[in-house]
Order: sequence, then C-alpha cells, then structure tokens
Amino acid sequence: QADYTINTAGHLSIGGCDALALAQEFKTPLVVYDVSKIRQTFQDLHATFEAAQIDYVISYASKAFATIAMYQVAKQEHAHIDVVSGGELFTAMQANFPMANISFHGNNKSYEELTMAVDQEVGMIVVDNFTEIKMLQEILRNHATTANILLRITPGISAHTHEYIQTGQADSKFGFDLASGQAAEALQIVLADEHFKVCGIHAHIGSQIFESTGFVEEAKILVATLANWQAEYGFNAQVLNLGGGFGIRYTQDDEPKAPQDMLITVINAVKAAVASAQIKMPAIWIEPGRAVVGPAGYSLYRVGTRKDVPGIEAYITVDGGMGDNIRPALYQAEYEAVLAKNPQAPTTQTARLAGKYCESGDILIEHQALPDVEQGDVIAMLATGAYGYSMASNYNRNGRPAVVFAENGIAKVVVRRETYQDLVALDVSYE
Ligand code: LLP
Repeated sequence: QADYTINTAGHLSIGGCDALALAQEFKTPLVVYDVSKIRQTFQDLHATFEAAQIDYVISYASKAFATIAMYQVAKQEHAHIDVVSGGELFTAMQANFPMANISFHGNNKSYEELTMAVDQEVGMIVVDNFTEIKMLQEILRNHATTANILLRITPGISAHTHEYIQTGQADSKFGFDLASGQAAEALQIVLADEHFKVCGIHAHIGSQIFESTGFVEEAKILVATLANWQAEYGFNAQVLNLGGGFGIRYTQDDEPKAPQDMLITVINAVKAAVASAQIKMPAIWIEPGRAVVGPAGYSLYRVGTRKDVPGIEAYITVDGGMGDNIRPALYQAEYEAVLAKNPQAPTTQTARLAGKYCESGDILIEHQALPDVEQGDVIAMLATGAYGYSMASNYNRNGRPAVVFAENGIAKVVVRRETYQDLVALDVSYE
C-alpha cells in the first residue's frame, strides 16, 4: 500500500493535519498534498546528484500537477520546471517562476505559444519536429534574438508500461526519429542557424516505469548518438536530458525502485557510456512528474449511497469520481483507499468504490477491502497527487474540488473549489 500516517486520535494524518478535520473544514471531494513529501523527494534527488558530483538539473514535469503554489514549491526546492502549453507557462509567470529555469515541451506548440516562450525568454525550448524548427526560425529572426534548444529524439525504446503512456518507441508522435536519420537532419538544420543555441538532446521513454533497464538503454543510445554527432558534425552537447518516468507505488502489488535508486543506476550508466565514448560529460537533466507529486497527494471523499445485490459485489459510492480522477476509467489505473477515521480497522467487506458520474465506467477502485462504512464517512484514496487534479474535468457539470497544501500541521487552500457560478461563467445566453 502507498504509505500514510496515523495521528494520536487514530485518524489519517496528512502533513500533520487530521484528515477528518480537513474534510470538515474544506468539504469534499478534496485533494490534499503533504508538502513535506514533495520537498523530500526533490531533496533526495538533489542529494543523489550532488553525491555523484556531476552537473545536473531537476526539472519538475508540471503536467502532473500545475498550479501557482506547486510552482512556488518547485522554486523553493531549487527545481526547474517543464511546461507544455501557454497555460502552464502563464501559470508559472503568475507564480514568479524564473523564466530561465523553464523548459517548453510539446509536439504541436502553436506560433503564439512559441512567440510567448521567446518573449518571456524561457530558458530552454525542447524542439520536437521540423514544422516547429521553421516557426521558431521565423520568430527568432523577427525578434532578432536567440533561443537555447534541445532536440527531442525518439530513441526507439519501449518502456514496459501502459501503451497510452509509452512515448519513446519508434512509432511515436513525439520527437525526431533517430534510426531513420531524421534526428541528424534536424541537428544539421539547427546547427546551421545562428539563432539557435543548440544545448543538447532530450528523450522521454515513458511513465510509471519500475525498472532501470529502459533508462540504462536510453542512456547508452543517447550517449552513442552524442559521440556520433561530435565526430560527424563537431557538435559538443552540454545537456543530456533523459526525461521523466520514475514509477510510484499505487497498490501493494507495485514495487518500484525509489527514484533516487533508479537515478544512481542511470547516472552510472551515463558515466560509463561517456567514458567509453570519450566525450565530455554533459550535464544530466531529468524531468520527474509523477514521482514528485504522486505519493504526496490524497483524495478525500465522503461516502454517499450504497447498492447491494445478492451475489454481486456491493457498490459504495463517493461524492467524486472520474471528474476529479480519470485515471481508473482511462488507464485502468489502480489505487487503494482507507477509512480516514480508522485506516487500520479490520476489514469486513470488499466493495467497488464508485464515483457519482453518470457512467458505468466511473469506478474509482474495483474490489476495495473496507471496514463497515456509513453514509458520511470520509474515505481517502492514496497516492492520487499526479495526473489527478491536472486531468480533472467538469463532466456532468460537477465543480472541480478544492486543493489544500498541508505542511507541519497547517493547511492552506491553494486552489479554491469551483462553484456553480464558476461552472456557468463562460456560458453565453442564446435567448
Ligand atoms: N517529460 C516528458 C517529456 C513527458 O512527456 C512526461 C510525461 C514527463 C517528463 C513526466 O513523466 P512522469 O515522471 O510523470 O512519469 N497522464 C498519464 C501520464 C502521462 C505522462 C506524459 N508525459 C497518467 O496519468 O499516467
């Protein structure tokens, strides 16, 4: 099970705050982050790089959870961030995030988004395709300026994960294909244009990865690519960006390596490959998203109705569901939940934890073991901090939940709950 803490009252405790008190004060459904867990993960990753004595950047992949408060925590923990849209970039601007520490990703950045990135002097643009090169050349020429770029490469590696979240295999919509020579062609174009400061290369092989083998393979391929490119084109890369993808524990069946342990293996693989290729050691950049915020997030729901049919597993329905966490419906993602008032109470039943949305597929957890529960009880789903709130919707015109940061016993709303008024705020009358 994902880990959790219990306070002296026997209740679930998040960031030193009693989960029942949080549900009472801020209402449900509620997303709560234990901020010290987020900080600890950043600090563990920093410590691993420091011990390896190499240049590095930890760039938080903010698609996992992108809000002003989260960008501020990333800044406080000396992390860079990745953004993938004008909206994430704007949010980072609102957080006063240093633009020099932002990387801009995406396989279809618009002209407006690229212009915004250039205007804001975003520190790194991760160039994905030939169309983007053309647009960026024009924008940089018109602005009489330069941009730091990385070339995103598709290294042809399949990470063992859900097919929707694999990204590094050859047949991918992202990046320049390596095997066919597309990447080398892109390199020659950008090296020939003085508006580009070509800093290095990037690849991302997938998400929720438990084994270091894929990363080690990636490191070997990318270092070999850099060695070739140095020999062929005289290109000296300063940055080797390995992307994100460290897996986390959602259920007791998950046994991921700790991110820092994966990282040590990957760093050693890069060092070995660099030594044998006899190139200069580049800075290693990583882009963890899920590993930073996933384990730190909890979704608090109240139990509503119940349906029992003889011979069929009961449905216990909570006041949220696929609108605040689409992952079970979309990826068959698995989670575990506990009863907040007594997380370790002996279980008496196995039930389906259903959501309130008008779809049969809106089941948050299949076969959840639970003690007896009553209407109004608070149930906490664990490890929901990544790609939960960030993928939330207003389906069925339910407002998105509030988000609370809890740290050292103090809870603060960092995103307020959507109101009915918010839900109609963009509607325009037609009578
Ligand atoms: N870097 C790049 C270029 C990425 O595309 C991603 C994730 C990351 C970093 C961060 O990966 P992480 O460390 O979080 O695994 N919505 C899906 C996950 C999609 C991931 C997309 N890219 C989910 O809920 O599982």
